[in-house]
Amino acid sequence: MTISIPFNRPCLAGNEYKYIAEAIANGHASGDGPFTRRCHALLEQELGVPKVLLTTSCTHALEMAAILLDCGPGDEVILPSFTFVSTANAFVLRGARIVFSDIRPDTLNLDETQLEGLISSRTKAIVPVHYAGVSCAMDAISAIAQRHGVRIVEDNAHGLFARYKGRYTGTFGCLATQSFHETKNVTCGEGGALMVNDRDLIERALVVREKGTNRSQFFRGQVDKYTWVDIGSSYLPSDLLAAFLFAQLEGRQEIQRKRQRVWEYYSQHLAEWAAGQGVRLPVVPADCEQAYHMFYIIVPSPECRQALIAHLKAQGILGVFHYVPLNLSDMGQKWAARESHCPVTEDLSLRLLRLPLYNDLTEAEQAHVVAGVTSFEN
Ligand SMILES: Cc1ncc(COP(=O)(O)O)c(C=O)c1O
Repeated sequence: MTISIPFNRPCLAGNEYKYIAEAIANGHASGDGPFTRRCHALLEQELGVPKVLLTTSCTHALEMAAILLDCGPGDEVILPSFTFVSTANAFVLRGARIVFSDIRPDTLNLDETQLEGLISSRTKAIVPVHYAGVSCAMDAISAIAQRHGVRIVEDNAHGLFARYKGRYTGTFGCLATQSFHETKNVTCGEGGALMVNDRDLIERALVVREKGTNRSQFFRGQVDKYTWVDIGSSYLPSDLLAAFLFAQLEGRQEIQRKRQRVWEYYSQHLAEWAAGQGVRLPVVPADCEQAYHMFYIIVPSPECRQALIAHLKAQGILGVFHYVPLNLSDMGQKWAARESHCPVTEDLSLRLLRLPLYNDLTEAEQAHVVAGVTSFEN
């Protein structure tokens, strides 16, 4: 059976080809050209962030965060077991150990009620992940972090333009990271951003992103030559990618509007079937405005999920599972600071299924997905 409705399909917002042609004509294809600056300015203004720096991926933005917080051997970083590898790997690369937290059963976000019990004198950072673009309970997490003098790095890979109590996610931690990977709402194929909310970290972030050199000071005319001043790597994307991204960012309202329509269609049309089948739909707390990044369902058993994936595939629809608990992985066990207890993660990760969601998914295609799902009986 060929797949007629993929899980994801990258969609154009309008001006991508035009801006890439402009970027080529500009003669500045390397990093930090005119389009990178336009992306920075747009995001800084829209989100109210002091400094945004485009990166080659969210993974690389997380690696920059680990460097900027001087994470190293002897340090511990608390993050949910239910996340992508990079959330943990970025800190392990610096030699820090990971403390895996379990998640809340409703939002699948880091369980803030367990957080205090995971903090030790070695804790350097907490990395909440706003799963599916629904914010973590940032009031509680920020209060605990402040009480213990621990920094917060938000992994906001899914959550661009989401809000918690009216405030954008990605503006709570001293640092936050975004992803523009092709599966995200706003994309350039592979890309990301570091949001620097703590102004004291801005100058060093510029150095780390530019291979450990003070090149940006040189371009600002502050030094007459640039040299090696810190550790770093090549974290800045080509201006060609920034040109693509800028077109997407300009189209952000339309993108969000389309995704909201798709998300709400699923939510409405699957509610009755879900109630009858013991299936749970996503929960968005009243104080969260979500990013409409993902639509998942939680089915009664792992066997039921396998059967539903096969049932959908037979109709040309690709439904996919998500993270495998990091605490159970070989690397998670090797780099865990201590034994973790994540029963909610271990249960829900086996029962979660994501449905196709992309900007240009038509209502007819969606009706086909809904018919595919609702014709399934456990
Ligand atoms: C929560 C989370 N963090 C980080 C990443 C890594 O993003 P990137 O592919 O931009 O490196 C992902 C990937 O989807 C993710 O889901």
